[in-house]
Amino acid sequence: MTQDIKLKNKVAVVTGGSKGIGKALVTALVEQGAKVVIGDILVNEGEELVKALNSKQPDNVAVFVRTDVTSWDDNKKLFATAEKEFGGVDIACLNAGISEHPQTLFGPLEGESMTLKINLDGVIKGNRVAILHLAKRGGGVIVNTASAAGFVGTSIIPHYTASKHGVVGWTRSMQPMIDVANVRVNAVCPYWVETDILASIDVPGVGFIDVAPKVPMETVMDAYMTAILDESQHCQTIIALPDGVRVEPAFNIWASCVTQEMVEAKMVDYKEEVEAWKSDLKEARMRANI
Ligand SMILES: NC(=O)c1ccc[n+]([C@@H]2O[C@H](COP(=O)([O-])OP(=O)(O)OC[C@H]3O[C@@H](n4cnc5c(N)ncnc54)[C@H](O)[C@@H]3O)[C@@H](O)[C@H]2O)c1
Repeated sequence: MTQDIKLKNKVAVVTGGSKGIGKALVTALVEQGAKVVIGDILVNEGEELVKALNSKQPDNVAVFVRTDVTSWDDNKKLFATAEKEFGGVDIACLNAGISEHPQTLFGPLEGESMTLKINLDGVIKGNRVAILHLAKRGGGVIVNTASAAGFVGTSIIPHYTASKHGVVGWTRSMQPMIDVANVRVNAVCPYWVETDILASIDVPGVGFIDVAPKVPMETVMDAYMTAILDESQHCQTIIALPDGVRVEPAFNIWASCVTQEMVEAKMVDYKEEVEAWKSDLKEARMRANI
């Protein structure tokens, strides 16, 4: 593969990078000349991947950090390691995810949804830590892994679907980050891809996923590269479908929800708030020592 000049020596953090889509992304980024820090709970797989990637290069290009994305401390340590090992962070891919077994809908009425904790809260924590590091670098890009289930109801996996709608909503709410921190935030949203997660979704006897079309991993990687490299993409949801990649536009607020008074008071965009947010960001970086 020819290396993309824009990725040469860039530093990426990838959560959920030990296997599946994350592993393919880590490998693609390294092939394109980037350095990668993987954060995952799967230690053996992550360390094996790092060993294989580093063995092909004169200098280390990959590092593994045992990271549970639901932990603030782990997220902070992950990004701090990227800074310590490779000098900073340019690209943050918040990709770790699970799906609960479909039958949990009628499980005991207690506890929390791990799917929401990992897929949504974990992504939000990762974004909040990433923004501080990317701002320190002068800007960068965040890519959140959502799903086609972030747009359509998927009755066999309601927690998962809610979590991915949440990731889409979070990503689309990051509009100001380009003005506040020179950070673009996009989401990649694949339809079904042949990875281990599918085994936790299908219920014996339903077999829906067996017969559903799959997205080739190369198409998923095309979607990531669009999200990372195309500087015109910000706050976009980039869908990876069996027949290719497309950018799914956000829909506009209904006309009846916007009054002339709101337009005149500039309440329909965020531009008035940018200076205040810049100062909040400065404080947040000082507080976190980043
Ligand atoms: N495979 C699909 O069909 C598909 C479709 C759309 C979106 N996605 C999304 O893609 C992402 C990657 O999934 P995949 O298909 O590669 O599945 P996968 O099971 O192969 O990989 C998921 C990775 O996330 C890691 N992970 C899980 N919980 C974690 C935690 N608490 N902290 C850190 N890492 C954790 C796992 O260890 C694993 O390495 C997920 O967010 C998933 O929802 C997958």
